[in-house]
Amino acid sequence: MSRIPDAFIQDLLTRIDIVEVVGSRVELKRAGREYKGLSPFTNEKSPSFFVNPAKQMFFDFSSGKNGTAITFLMENDRLSFVEAVEELAKRAGVDVPREGGNEVSRLVLDGPLDALAVAEKFYRGQLRTHQPAIDYLKKRGLDGETAKLFNVGYAPESWDALTRLFPEADGQRKHAMDAGLLIERDSGGGAYDRFRNRVMFPIRDTRGRTIGFGGRTLANDPAKYLNSPETPLFHKGRNLFGLFEAKQSTKSELTSLLVVEGYMDVVMLAQHGIRNAVATLGTATTREHLTLLFKSTQRVVFCFDGDRAGRSAAWRALEQALPEVFDNRECRFMFLPDGHDPDSLVQEIGADAFRVLIEQAQPLSDFLLGELQKQVNIATLDGRARLPGLARPHVEKLRDGPLRALIVDELARLTRLGRGDLEAALAARAKPEAAASSAPNDNARRVESPGAKPVRIALQLLLEEPALASKAEHLGQIEMLAQPGLDILIDTIEFFRENPEAHAAQWLELHRGTARGAALTRISAMPLTIADASLEAEFLDCLTHLRKRAIRERQQALLDTARERSLEPAEQAELMALMQRP
Ligand code: UTP
Ligand code: MN
Repeated sequence: MSRIPDAFIQDLLTRIDIVEVVGSRVELKRAGREYKGLSPFTNEKSPSFFVNPAKQMFFDFSSGKNGTAITFLMENDRLSFVEAVEELAKRAGVDVPREGGNEVSRLVLDGPLDALAVAEKFYRGQLRTHQPAIDYLKKRGLDGETAKLFNVGYAPESWDALTRLFPEADGQRKHAMDAGLLIERDSGGGAYDRFRNRVMFPIRDTRGRTIGFGGRTLANDPAKYLNSPETPLFHKGRNLFGLFEAKQSTKSELTSLLVVEGYMDVVMLAQHGIRNAVATLGTATTREHLTLLFKSTQRVVFCFDGDRAGRSAAWRALEQALPEVFDNRECRFMFLPDGHDPDSLVQEIGADAFRVLIEQAQPLSDFLLGELQKQVNIATLDGRARLPGLARPHVEKLRDGPLRALIVDELARLTRLGRGDLEAALAARAKPEAAASSAPNDNARRVESPGAKPVRIALQLLLEEPALASKAEHLGQIEMLAQPGLDILIDTIEFFRENPEAHAAQWLELHRGTARGAALTRISAMPLTIADASLEAEFLDCLTHLRKRAIRERQQALLDTARERSLEPAEQAELMALMQRP
Protein backbone atom coordinates (compact mmCIF):
# COMPACT_ATOMS: atom_id res chain seq x y z
CA MET A 1 0.00 0.00 0.00
CA SER A 2 1.28 3.44 -0.76
CA ARG A 3 2.50 5.44 2.17
CA ILE A 4 0.76 8.45 3.67
CA PRO A 5 3.02 11.48 3.27
CA ASP A 6 4.57 12.83 6.47
CA ALA A 7 3.55 16.33 5.48
CA PHE A 8 -0.09 15.28 5.52
CA ILE A 9 0.20 13.79 9.00
CA GLN A 10 1.91 16.95 10.21
CA ASP A 11 -0.91 19.01 8.77
CA LEU A 12 -3.62 16.68 10.05
CA LEU A 13 -2.33 16.95 13.62
CA THR A 14 -2.72 20.73 13.48
CA ARG A 15 -6.34 20.33 12.39
CA ILE A 16 -7.53 18.06 15.15
CA ASP A 17 -7.49 18.43 18.91
CA ILE A 18 -6.49 15.43 20.98
CA VAL A 19 -8.73 16.61 23.81
CA GLU A 20 -11.79 16.20 21.55
CA VAL A 21 -10.61 12.90 20.13
CA VAL A 22 -9.97 11.36 23.53
CA GLY A 23 -12.87 13.23 25.13
CA SER A 24 -15.36 11.47 22.86
CA ARG A 25 -14.18 8.12 24.27
CA VAL A 26 -13.04 8.84 27.82
CA GLU A 27 -14.69 11.11 30.34
CA LEU A 28 -12.22 13.93 30.99
CA LYS A 29 -12.12 16.63 33.64
CA ARG A 30 -9.99 19.70 33.55
CA ALA A 31 -6.99 19.56 35.93
CA GLY A 32 -4.84 22.66 35.59
CA ARG A 33 -3.46 22.80 32.10
CA GLU A 34 -4.28 19.16 31.48
CA TYR A 35 -7.34 16.95 31.38
CA LYS A 36 -7.68 13.97 33.63
CA GLY A 37 -9.67 10.75 33.53
CA LEU A 38 -9.77 7.05 34.27
CA SER A 39 -7.41 5.05 32.12
CA PRO A 40 -9.24 3.27 29.31
CA PHE A 41 -6.46 0.70 29.31
CA THR A 42 -6.67 -0.54 32.92
CA ASN A 43 -9.38 -0.92 35.57
CA GLU A 44 -8.02 1.80 37.79
CA LYS A 45 -10.24 3.44 40.40
CA SER A 46 -8.45 6.76 40.77
CA PRO A 47 -7.57 8.68 37.62
CA SER A 48 -3.98 8.66 36.36
CA PHE A 49 -4.74 9.21 32.68
CA PHE A 50 -3.86 12.68 31.37
CA VAL A 51 -4.37 14.54 28.13
CA ASN A 52 -2.07 17.49 27.52
CA PRO A 53 -3.39 19.98 24.94
CA ALA A 54 -0.09 21.90 24.70
CA LYS A 55 1.81 18.79 23.69
CA GLN A 56 -1.21 17.27 21.94
CA MET A 57 -0.37 14.02 23.71
CA PHE A 58 -1.88 11.64 26.24
CA PHE A 59 -0.10 10.05 29.18
CA ASP A 60 -1.40 7.04 31.01
CA PHE A 61 0.54 6.39 34.17
CA SER A 62 -1.39 3.25 35.01
CA SER A 63 -0.54 1.36 31.82
CA GLY A 64 2.56 3.29 30.78
CA LYS A 65 1.04 4.04 27.35
CA ASN A 66 1.82 7.49 26.01
CA GLY A 67 1.52 9.14 22.63
CA THR A 68 -0.31 11.26 20.10
CA ALA A 69 -3.93 11.20 18.97
CA ILE A 70 -2.91 8.62 16.37
CA THR A 71 -1.38 6.40 19.05
CA PHE A 72 -4.51 6.78 21.16
CA LEU A 73 -6.79 5.54 18.39
CA MET A 74 -4.43 2.68 17.61
CA GLU A 75 -4.43 1.60 21.25
CA ASN A 76 -7.99 2.41 22.25
CA ASP A 77 -9.91 1.57 19.08
CA ARG A 78 -7.40 -1.13 18.11
CA LEU A 79 -6.82 0.43 14.72
CA SER A 80 -3.83 0.11 12.46
CA PHE A 81 -1.76 3.24 11.89
CA VAL A 82 -3.42 3.89 8.52
CA GLU A 83 -6.91 3.32 9.94
CA ALA A 84 -6.16 5.72 12.79
CA VAL A 85 -5.02 8.40 10.35
CA GLU A 86 -8.13 7.81 8.25
CA GLU A 87 -10.34 8.14 11.30
CA LEU A 88 -8.73 11.46 12.22
CA ALA A 89 -8.92 12.69 8.63
CA LYS A 90 -12.63 11.93 8.62
CA ARG A 91 -13.04 14.03 11.77
CA ALA A 92 -11.08 16.86 10.18
CA GLY A 93 -13.06 16.55 6.94
CA VAL A 94 -10.06 15.98 4.70
CA ASP A 95 -9.07 13.16 2.34
CA VAL A 96 -5.99 11.07 3.03
CA PRO A 97 -3.61 11.49 0.12
CA ARG A 98 -1.34 8.64 -0.85
CA GLU A 99 2.18 9.00 -2.08
CA GLY A 100 2.20 9.44 -5.82
CA GLY A 101 -1.37 10.71 -5.69
CA ASN A 102 -2.45 14.32 -5.65
CA GLU A 103 -0.66 16.53 -3.21
CA VAL A 104 -2.65 18.59 -0.79
CA SER A 105 -1.75 22.20 -1.10
CA ARG A 106 -2.63 24.44 1.78
CA LEU A 107 -2.03 27.52 -0.29
CA VAL A 108 -3.78 28.48 -3.41
CA LEU A 109 -2.20 31.77 -4.22
CA ASP A 110 -3.22 32.51 -7.73
CA GLY A 111 -2.00 36.08 -7.61
CA PRO A 112 1.72 35.43 -7.05
CA LEU A 113 1.59 32.33 -9.25
CA ASP A 114 0.27 34.44 -12.10
CA ALA A 115 3.02 36.98 -11.55
CA LEU A 116 5.64 34.22 -11.68
CA ALA A 117 4.19 32.90 -14.94
CA VAL A 118 4.31 36.38 -16.43
CA ALA A 119 7.93 36.79 -15.32
CA GLU A 120 8.96 33.44 -16.72
CA LYS A 121 7.52 34.29 -20.11
CA PHE A 122 9.17 37.68 -20.03
CA TYR A 123 12.61 36.23 -19.16
CA ARG A 124 12.33 33.65 -21.94
CA GLY A 125 11.54 36.35 -24.46
CA GLN A 126 14.48 38.40 -23.25
CA LEU A 127 16.86 35.48 -23.77
CA ARG A 128 15.86 35.21 -27.44
CA THR A 129 16.82 38.81 -28.12
CA HIS A 130 19.84 39.22 -25.89
CA GLN A 131 22.92 38.00 -27.76
CA PRO A 132 25.49 38.18 -24.90
CA ALA A 133 23.32 35.86 -22.81
CA ILE A 134 22.91 33.44 -25.72
CA ASP A 135 26.67 33.52 -26.28
CA TYR A 136 27.30 32.82 -22.62
CA LEU A 137 25.09 29.73 -22.62
CA LYS A 138 26.66 28.55 -25.89
CA LYS A 139 30.10 28.96 -24.40
CA ARG A 140 29.03 26.77 -21.49
CA GLY A 141 27.90 24.12 -23.92
CA LEU A 142 24.17 24.44 -23.42
CA ASP A 143 22.03 23.82 -26.50
CA GLY A 144 18.76 25.51 -27.37
CA GLU A 145 16.67 22.39 -26.92
CA THR A 146 17.81 21.88 -23.33
CA ALA A 147 17.34 25.56 -22.54
CA LYS A 148 13.76 25.18 -23.75
CA LEU A 149 13.19 22.02 -21.72
CA PHE A 150 13.97 23.97 -18.53
CA ASN A 151 12.43 27.25 -19.74
CA VAL A 152 15.75 29.00 -19.21
CA GLY A 153 15.49 32.77 -19.60
CA TYR A 154 17.36 36.00 -19.08
CA ALA A 155 16.71 38.95 -16.75
CA PRO A 156 17.99 42.09 -18.49
CA GLU A 157 20.38 44.55 -16.92
CA SER A 158 17.70 46.95 -15.86
CA TRP A 159 16.16 48.15 -12.61
CA ASP A 160 12.61 48.21 -13.86
CA ALA A 161 12.19 46.06 -16.98
CA LEU A 162 10.05 43.57 -15.05
CA THR A 163 8.61 46.10 -12.62
CA ARG A 164 7.03 47.98 -15.52
CA LEU A 165 5.00 44.88 -16.40
CA PHE A 166 3.22 45.12 -13.04
CA PRO A 167 1.48 48.47 -12.84
CA GLU A 168 0.76 49.56 -9.31
CA ALA A 169 -2.68 50.75 -10.24
CA ASP A 170 -4.35 47.39 -10.93
CA GLY A 171 -3.06 45.46 -7.91
CA GLN A 172 -0.65 43.35 -9.93
CA ARG A 173 2.37 44.96 -8.28
CA LYS A 174 1.56 43.36 -4.95
CA HIS A 175 1.44 39.87 -6.44
CA ALA A 176 4.87 40.31 -8.05
CA MET A 177 6.18 41.63 -4.76
CA ASP A 178 4.71 38.69 -2.82
CA ALA A 179 6.31 36.34 -5.33
CA GLY A 180 9.73 37.84 -4.54
CA LEU A 181 10.24 39.16 -8.06
CA LEU A 182 10.39 42.80 -7.07
CA ILE A 183 11.95 44.56 -4.12
CA GLU A 184 10.30 47.51 -2.41
CA ARG A 185 12.41 50.63 -2.31
CA ASP A 186 13.43 51.68 1.19
CA SER A 187 12.23 55.16 0.59
CA GLY A 188 8.78 53.73 0.16
CA GLY A 189 8.62 54.97 -3.41
CA GLY A 190 7.89 52.02 -5.64
CA ALA A 191 9.83 48.87 -6.42
CA TYR A 192 12.69 47.53 -8.54
CA ASP A 193 13.67 44.25 -10.23
CA ARG A 194 15.32 41.69 -7.96
CA PHE A 195 17.01 39.82 -10.81
CA ARG A 196 19.24 41.85 -13.14
CA ASN A 197 21.64 40.65 -15.81
CA ARG A 198 21.21 37.03 -14.89
CA VAL A 199 20.46 33.77 -16.67
CA MET A 200 17.19 32.63 -15.12
CA PHE A 201 16.30 29.07 -14.14
CA PRO A 202 12.62 28.66 -13.20
CA ILE A 203 12.03 26.45 -10.17
CA ARG A 204 8.80 24.49 -10.46
CA ASP A 205 6.76 22.63 -7.91
CA THR A 206 5.79 19.02 -8.50
CA ARG A 207 2.78 20.15 -10.51
CA GLY A 208 4.93 22.16 -12.87
CA ARG A 209 3.96 25.61 -11.63
CA THR A 210 6.85 28.05 -11.44
CA ILE A 211 7.22 29.09 -7.80
CA GLY A 212 10.61 30.81 -7.86
CA PHE A 213 13.81 31.38 -9.79
CA GLY A 214 17.52 30.88 -9.53
CA GLY A 215 19.55 33.43 -11.45
CA ARG A 216 23.20 33.18 -12.46
CA THR A 217 25.03 36.43 -12.91
CA LEU A 218 26.60 37.24 -16.27
CA ALA A 219 28.77 39.87 -14.64
CA ASN A 220 31.12 39.23 -11.77
CA ASP A 221 28.53 39.75 -9.10
CA PRO A 222 29.78 38.30 -5.80
CA ALA A 223 26.45 36.48 -5.48
CA LYS A 224 27.06 34.07 -8.34
CA TYR A 225 23.59 32.65 -7.94
CA LEU A 226 20.64 34.54 -6.58
CA ASN A 227 17.52 32.64 -5.55
CA SER A 228 13.99 33.87 -4.98
CA PRO A 229 13.47 34.71 -1.31
CA GLU A 230 11.38 32.43 0.88
CA THR A 231 7.72 33.16 0.20
CA PRO A 232 4.52 31.36 1.19
CA LEU A 233 4.86 29.53 -2.13
CA PHE A 234 8.58 28.96 -2.23
CA HIS A 235 10.63 27.25 0.46
CA LYS A 236 14.18 26.26 -0.40
CA GLY A 237 14.08 23.42 2.07
CA ARG A 238 10.96 21.97 0.51
CA ASN A 239 11.63 22.16 -3.21
CA LEU A 240 14.15 20.77 -5.62
CA PHE A 241 15.23 22.22 -8.92
CA GLY A 242 14.56 19.80 -11.78
CA LEU A 243 12.17 17.46 -9.99
CA PHE A 244 9.22 18.31 -12.19
CA GLU A 245 11.34 17.94 -15.34
CA ALA A 246 12.74 14.63 -14.10
CA LYS A 247 9.25 13.29 -13.48
CA GLN A 248 8.14 14.48 -16.90
CA SER A 249 10.94 12.50 -18.55
CA THR A 250 9.20 9.17 -17.97
CA LYS A 251 5.68 7.83 -17.76
CA SER A 252 6.54 5.22 -15.16
CA GLU A 253 8.03 5.78 -11.71
CA LEU A 254 11.63 7.00 -11.78
CA THR A 255 14.04 4.16 -11.03
CA SER A 256 16.28 6.64 -9.26
CA LEU A 257 16.88 10.32 -8.61
CA LEU A 258 20.33 11.88 -8.57
CA VAL A 259 20.80 14.78 -6.16
CA VAL A 260 23.43 17.32 -7.23
CA GLU A 261 24.36 20.79 -6.03
CA GLY A 262 23.90 23.15 -8.93
CA TYR A 263 21.43 24.36 -11.52
CA MET A 264 23.93 23.91 -14.34
CA ASP A 265 24.64 20.36 -13.17
CA VAL A 266 21.00 19.36 -13.55
CA VAL A 267 20.66 21.06 -16.91
CA MET A 268 23.88 19.70 -18.39
CA LEU A 269 23.17 16.16 -17.20
CA ALA A 270 19.74 16.35 -18.83
CA GLN A 271 21.35 17.48 -22.05
CA HIS A 272 23.45 14.32 -21.95
CA GLY A 273 20.39 12.15 -21.46
CA ILE A 274 20.65 11.83 -17.67
CA ARG A 275 17.21 13.18 -17.01
CA ASN A 276 16.80 12.23 -13.37
CA ALA A 277 19.03 14.83 -11.69
CA VAL A 278 17.68 17.38 -9.21
CA ALA A 279 19.44 20.10 -7.21
CA THR A 280 18.99 21.52 -3.75
CA LEU A 281 18.67 25.27 -3.95
CA GLY A 282 21.89 26.44 -2.35
CA THR A 283 20.94 24.79 0.96
CA ALA A 284 21.86 21.60 2.76
CA THR A 285 19.64 18.59 2.19
CA THR A 286 16.64 18.67 4.53
CA ARG A 287 14.37 15.98 5.85
CA GLU A 288 11.62 17.46 3.70
CA HIS A 289 13.79 17.08 0.60
CA LEU A 290 14.10 13.40 1.42
CA THR A 291 10.34 13.02 1.82
CA LEU A 292 9.85 14.74 -1.50
CA LEU A 293 12.45 12.59 -3.25
CA PHE A 294 11.00 9.35 -1.94
CA LYS A 295 7.58 10.37 -3.19
CA SER A 296 8.90 9.97 -6.71
CA THR A 297 11.36 7.12 -6.47
CA GLN A 298 12.61 4.32 -4.25
CA ARG A 299 16.25 5.08 -4.91
CA VAL A 300 18.13 8.31 -4.21
CA VAL A 301 21.76 8.82 -5.20
CA PHE A 302 23.55 11.81 -3.69
CA CYS A 303 26.35 13.26 -5.75
CA PHE A 304 28.89 15.38 -3.88
CA ASP A 305 32.38 16.79 -4.38
CA GLY A 306 35.10 14.45 -3.16
CA ASP A 307 36.69 17.13 -0.96
CA ARG A 308 36.19 17.68 2.76
CA ALA A 309 33.28 20.06 2.28
CA GLY A 310 31.61 17.56 -0.02
CA ARG A 311 32.02 14.72 2.43
CA SER A 312 30.61 16.72 5.30
CA ALA A 313 27.65 17.79 3.15
CA ALA A 314 27.14 14.11 2.33
CA TRP A 315 27.23 13.28 6.03
CA ARG A 316 24.53 15.83 6.73
CA ALA A 317 22.43 14.34 3.95
CA LEU A 318 22.96 10.90 5.44
CA GLU A 319 21.66 12.07 8.80
CA GLN A 320 18.48 13.37 7.20
CA ALA A 321 18.13 10.18 5.19
CA LEU A 322 18.41 7.66 8.04
CA PRO A 323 14.80 7.96 9.23
CA GLU A 324 13.56 7.87 5.63
CA VAL A 325 15.17 4.66 4.40
CA PHE A 326 12.85 1.76 5.07
CA ASP A 327 10.89 -0.82 3.11
CA ASN A 328 12.29 -0.78 -0.42
CA ARG A 329 13.88 2.63 -0.19
CA GLU A 330 17.55 2.97 -0.87
CA CYS A 331 20.12 5.76 -0.58
CA ARG A 332 23.55 5.91 -2.16
CA PHE A 333 26.48 8.31 -2.11
CA MET A 334 28.71 9.20 -5.00
CA PHE A 335 31.84 11.33 -4.77
CA LEU A 336 33.27 13.23 -7.72
CA PRO A 337 36.92 13.42 -8.70
CA ASP A 338 38.76 16.55 -7.50
CA GLY A 339 38.03 19.79 -9.24
CA HIS A 340 34.93 18.52 -11.04
CA ASP A 341 31.24 19.15 -10.70
CA PRO A 342 28.70 17.01 -12.57
CA ASP A 343 28.41 19.72 -15.23
CA SER A 344 32.12 19.64 -16.09
CA LEU A 345 32.51 15.91 -15.59
CA VAL A 346 29.69 14.79 -17.85
CA GLN A 347 31.00 17.08 -20.57
CA GLU A 348 34.44 15.56 -20.20
CA ILE A 349 33.72 11.84 -19.87
CA GLY A 350 30.27 11.55 -21.45
CA ALA A 351 27.01 10.09 -20.22
CA ASP A 352 27.95 6.40 -20.32
CA ALA A 353 31.04 6.81 -18.17
CA PHE A 354 29.03 9.06 -15.84
CA ARG A 355 26.35 6.38 -15.51
CA VAL A 356 29.02 3.87 -14.56
CA LEU A 357 30.07 6.19 -11.72
CA ILE A 358 26.46 6.44 -10.57
CA GLU A 359 26.22 2.64 -10.57
CA GLN A 360 29.32 2.49 -8.38
CA ALA A 361 27.93 4.85 -5.74
CA GLN A 362 28.43 3.72 -2.15
CA PRO A 363 25.41 2.22 -0.36
CA LEU A 364 24.31 4.21 2.69
CA SER A 365 25.48 1.50 5.07
CA ASP A 366 28.99 1.51 3.55
CA PHE A 367 29.25 5.25 3.81
CA LEU A 368 27.93 5.30 7.38
CA LEU A 369 30.15 2.51 8.69
CA GLY A 370 33.16 3.71 6.69
CA GLU A 371 32.99 7.19 8.18
CA LEU A 372 32.49 5.82 11.70
CA GLN A 373 35.46 3.49 11.34
CA LYS A 374 37.64 6.46 10.38
CA GLN A 375 37.01 7.86 13.85
CA VAL A 376 38.44 4.89 15.75
CA ASN A 377 41.37 2.54 15.45
CA ILE A 378 39.53 -0.64 14.59
CA ALA A 379 42.69 -2.69 15.08
CA THR A 380 42.58 -2.14 18.83
CA LEU A 381 40.14 -3.48 21.36
CA ASP A 382 39.54 0.02 22.74
CA GLY A 383 38.83 1.38 19.29
CA ARG A 384 36.30 -1.36 18.62
CA ALA A 385 34.70 -0.72 22.01
CA ARG A 386 34.00 2.89 21.05
CA LEU A 387 32.28 1.99 17.80
CA PRO A 388 28.82 1.11 19.17
CA GLY A 389 28.69 4.42 21.03
CA LEU A 390 29.53 6.32 17.85
CA ALA A 391 27.01 4.34 15.84
CA ARG A 392 24.22 4.62 18.36
CA PRO A 393 22.79 8.06 17.44
CA HIS A 394 22.63 6.98 13.79
CA VAL A 395 21.32 3.48 14.23
CA GLU A 396 18.70 4.98 16.50
CA LYS A 397 17.25 6.96 13.62
CA LEU A 398 16.62 3.88 11.50
CA ARG A 399 13.28 2.15 11.58
CA ASP A 400 13.27 -1.48 12.58
CA GLY A 401 13.77 -3.58 9.48
CA PRO A 402 16.30 -5.42 7.38
CA LEU A 403 18.60 -2.43 6.86
CA ARG A 404 18.93 -1.77 10.56
CA ALA A 405 19.42 -5.49 11.23
CA LEU A 406 22.17 -5.76 8.63
CA ILE A 407 23.95 -2.67 9.87
CA VAL A 408 23.86 -4.07 13.40
CA ASP A 409 25.21 -7.38 12.04
CA GLU A 410 28.04 -5.56 10.34
CA LEU A 411 28.78 -3.65 13.54
CA ALA A 412 28.87 -6.97 15.36
CA ARG A 413 31.39 -8.26 12.84
CA LEU A 414 33.55 -5.12 13.11
CA THR A 415 33.50 -4.97 16.91
CA ARG A 416 33.49 -8.75 17.31
CA LEU A 417 30.70 -8.33 19.85
CA GLY A 418 27.86 -10.81 20.10
CA ARG A 419 24.52 -9.58 18.81
CA GLY A 420 23.10 -9.36 22.34
CA ASP A 421 26.04 -7.42 23.76
CA LEU A 422 25.96 -5.09 20.80
CA GLU A 423 22.22 -4.36 21.05
CA ALA A 424 22.77 -3.67 24.73
CA ALA A 425 25.64 -1.30 23.91
CA LEU A 426 23.54 0.44 21.25
CA ALA A 427 20.74 0.92 23.75
CA ALA A 428 22.92 1.50 26.83
CA ARG A 429 23.59 5.15 26.26
CA ALA A 430 19.93 5.99 25.97
CA LYS A 431 19.16 4.01 29.12
CA PRO A 432 19.73 6.52 31.87
CA GLU A 433 17.11 8.84 30.41
CA ALA A 434 14.88 5.98 29.44
CA ALA A 435 15.07 4.39 32.86
CA ALA A 436 14.30 7.57 34.69
CA SER A 437 11.39 8.32 32.42
CA SER A 438 9.69 5.03 31.70
CA ALA A 439 7.83 5.12 34.97
CA PRO A 440 7.90 8.28 37.01
CA ASN A 441 6.60 6.42 40.06
CA ASP A 442 9.20 3.72 39.74
CA ASN A 443 11.20 3.79 43.00
CA ALA A 444 14.14 2.04 41.37
CA ARG A 445 15.21 5.23 39.60
CA ARG A 446 18.57 4.75 38.05
CA VAL A 447 21.27 7.36 38.01
CA GLU A 448 21.72 9.43 34.86
CA SER A 449 25.12 9.46 33.24
CA PRO A 450 26.94 12.69 34.06
CA GLY A 451 26.07 15.35 31.51
CA ALA A 452 22.84 13.72 30.44
CA LYS A 453 20.73 15.83 32.74
CA PRO A 454 20.97 19.22 30.99
CA VAL A 455 20.29 17.53 27.65
CA ARG A 456 17.26 15.73 29.02
CA ILE A 457 15.87 18.77 30.80
CA ALA A 458 16.38 20.99 27.76
CA LEU A 459 14.47 18.41 25.72
CA GLN A 460 11.66 18.20 28.26
CA LEU A 461 11.38 21.96 28.24
CA LEU A 462 11.27 22.10 24.45
CA LEU A 463 8.57 19.47 24.21
CA GLU A 464 6.61 21.46 26.78
CA GLU A 465 7.27 24.85 25.19
CA PRO A 466 8.48 24.58 21.56
CA ALA A 467 8.80 28.38 21.28
CA LEU A 468 11.98 28.08 23.36
CA ALA A 469 13.72 26.76 20.24
CA SER A 470 14.00 30.29 18.91
CA LYS A 471 15.94 31.33 22.01
CA ALA A 472 18.79 28.85 21.56
CA GLU A 473 22.15 30.28 20.58
CA HIS A 474 25.67 29.04 19.86
CA LEU A 475 24.43 25.66 18.69
CA GLY A 476 27.55 25.26 16.57
CA GLN A 477 29.69 25.17 19.70
CA ILE A 478 27.37 22.92 21.66
CA GLU A 479 27.18 20.53 18.74
CA MET A 480 30.88 19.69 19.12
CA LEU A 481 30.23 18.04 22.45
CA ALA A 482 30.38 14.24 22.47
CA GLN A 483 27.28 13.86 24.59
CA PRO A 484 24.74 11.09 24.01
CA GLY A 485 21.34 12.51 23.22
CA LEU A 486 22.76 15.84 22.12
CA ASP A 487 21.97 15.14 18.47
CA ILE A 488 18.31 14.65 19.41
CA LEU A 489 18.32 17.97 21.25
CA ILE A 490 19.86 19.85 18.31
CA ASP A 491 17.48 18.25 15.81
CA THR A 492 14.53 19.06 18.04
CA ILE A 493 15.59 22.70 18.26
CA GLU A 494 15.96 22.86 14.49
CA PHE A 495 12.57 21.23 13.93
CA PHE A 496 10.70 23.66 16.16
CA ARG A 497 12.55 26.60 14.63
CA GLU A 498 11.46 25.53 11.19
CA ASN A 499 7.96 24.63 12.34
CA PRO A 500 7.08 27.23 14.93
CA GLU A 501 3.45 26.17 15.09
CA ALA A 502 4.15 22.47 15.74
CA HIS A 503 3.34 20.62 18.98
CA ALA A 504 5.41 17.85 20.53
CA ALA A 505 3.00 15.40 18.84
CA GLN A 506 4.15 16.40 15.35
CA TRP A 507 7.80 15.88 16.21
CA LEU A 508 7.02 12.47 17.72
CA GLU A 509 5.04 11.34 14.68
CA LEU A 510 8.11 11.97 12.51
CA HIS A 511 9.90 9.33 14.59
CA ARG A 512 7.16 6.72 14.84
CA GLY A 513 8.61 3.24 15.11
CA THR A 514 12.19 4.33 15.86
CA ALA A 515 14.23 4.08 19.04
CA ARG A 516 14.53 7.83 18.93
CA GLY A 517 10.76 8.13 18.83
CA ALA A 518 10.49 5.88 21.87
CA ALA A 519 13.09 7.95 23.74
CA LEU A 520 11.27 11.19 22.89
CA THR A 521 7.94 9.75 24.02
CA ARG A 522 9.44 8.69 27.33
CA ILE A 523 11.04 12.06 27.87
CA SER A 524 7.79 13.86 27.09
CA ALA A 525 6.11 11.84 29.85
CA MET A 526 8.61 12.81 32.52
CA PRO A 527 7.33 15.19 35.18
CA LEU A 528 8.63 18.71 34.93
CA THR A 529 8.48 20.73 38.09
CA ILE A 530 9.49 24.13 36.86
CA ALA A 531 7.30 27.20 37.12
CA ASP A 532 6.12 28.71 33.86
CA ALA A 533 7.99 31.90 34.47
CA SER A 534 11.28 30.06 34.77
CA LEU A 535 11.02 27.80 31.71
CA GLU A 536 13.14 30.04 29.51
CA ALA A 537 15.80 30.74 32.14
CA GLU A 538 16.06 27.03 32.89
CA PHE A 539 16.35 26.17 29.20
CA LEU A 540 19.08 28.76 28.62
CA ASP A 541 20.88 27.48 31.72
CA CYS A 542 20.99 23.98 30.29
CA LEU A 543 22.40 25.26 27.01
CA THR A 544 24.98 27.45 28.74
CA HIS A 545 26.05 24.49 30.80
CA LEU A 546 26.50 22.37 27.67
CA ARG A 547 28.29 25.15 25.86
CA LYS A 548 30.76 25.64 28.69
CA ARG A 549 31.49 21.96 28.70
CA ALA A 550 31.94 21.93 24.93
CA ILE A 551 34.43 24.75 25.21
CA ARG A 552 36.30 23.06 28.06
CA GLU A 553 36.52 19.79 26.15
CA ARG A 554 37.70 21.47 22.97
CA GLN A 555 40.32 23.35 24.98
CA GLN A 556 41.50 20.14 26.53
CA ALA A 557 41.66 18.39 23.17
CA LEU A 558 43.79 21.19 21.75
CA LEU A 559 46.07 21.15 24.79
CA ASP A 560 46.44 17.38 24.43
CA THR A 561 47.34 17.82 20.78
CA ALA A 562 49.86 20.51 21.69
CA ARG A 563 51.64 17.98 23.86
CA GLU A 564 52.09 15.67 20.88
CA ARG A 565 52.90 18.13 18.14
CA SER A 566 53.02 21.87 17.64
CA LEU A 567 49.64 23.38 16.83
CA GLU A 568 48.77 24.76 13.40
CA PRO A 569 48.30 28.55 13.37
CA ALA A 570 44.53 28.11 13.09
CA GLU A 571 44.50 25.77 16.09
CA GLN A 572 46.65 28.23 18.05
CA ALA A 573 44.21 31.01 17.32
CA GLU A 574 41.26 28.82 18.26
CA LEU A 575 42.87 27.89 21.55
CA MET A 576 43.61 31.52 22.38
CA ALA A 577 40.04 32.47 21.62
CA LEU A 578 38.71 29.65 23.80
CA MET A 579 40.95 30.60 26.72
CA GLN A 580 39.61 34.14 26.65
CA ARG A 581 36.03 33.04 27.10
CA PRO A 582 34.47 33.26 30.53
P1 UTP B 1 28.82 26.51 -7.39
O1 UTP B 1 29.53 27.72 -6.92
O2 UTP B 1 29.52 25.19 -7.34
O3 UTP B 1 28.39 26.87 -8.82
O4 UTP B 1 27.43 26.45 -6.66
P2 UTP B 1 28.14 26.06 -10.14
O5 UTP B 1 26.79 25.45 -10.13
O6 UTP B 1 29.30 25.20 -10.48
O7 UTP B 1 28.04 27.32 -11.05
P3 UTP B 1 28.64 27.63 -12.42
O8 UTP B 1 29.03 26.31 -13.02
O9 UTP B 1 29.80 28.54 -12.18
O10 UTP B 1 27.51 28.32 -13.10
C1 UTP B 1 26.62 25.32 -6.69
C2 UTP B 1 25.21 25.71 -6.37
O11 UTP B 1 25.14 26.39 -5.13
C3 UTP B 1 24.16 27.41 -5.17
C4 UTP B 1 23.51 27.30 -6.52
O12 UTP B 1 22.39 26.46 -6.41
C5 UTP B 1 24.59 26.68 -7.36
O13 UTP B 1 24.08 26.07 -8.52
N1 UTP B 1 24.77 28.76 -5.02
C6 UTP B 1 26.07 28.99 -5.33
C7 UTP B 1 23.98 29.78 -4.57
O14 UTP B 1 22.80 29.60 -4.28
N2 UTP B 1 24.53 31.05 -4.46
C8 UTP B 1 25.84 31.31 -4.80
O15 UTP B 1 26.29 32.48 -4.70
C9 UTP B 1 26.63 30.25 -5.23
MN1 MN C 1 30.05 24.64 -12.26
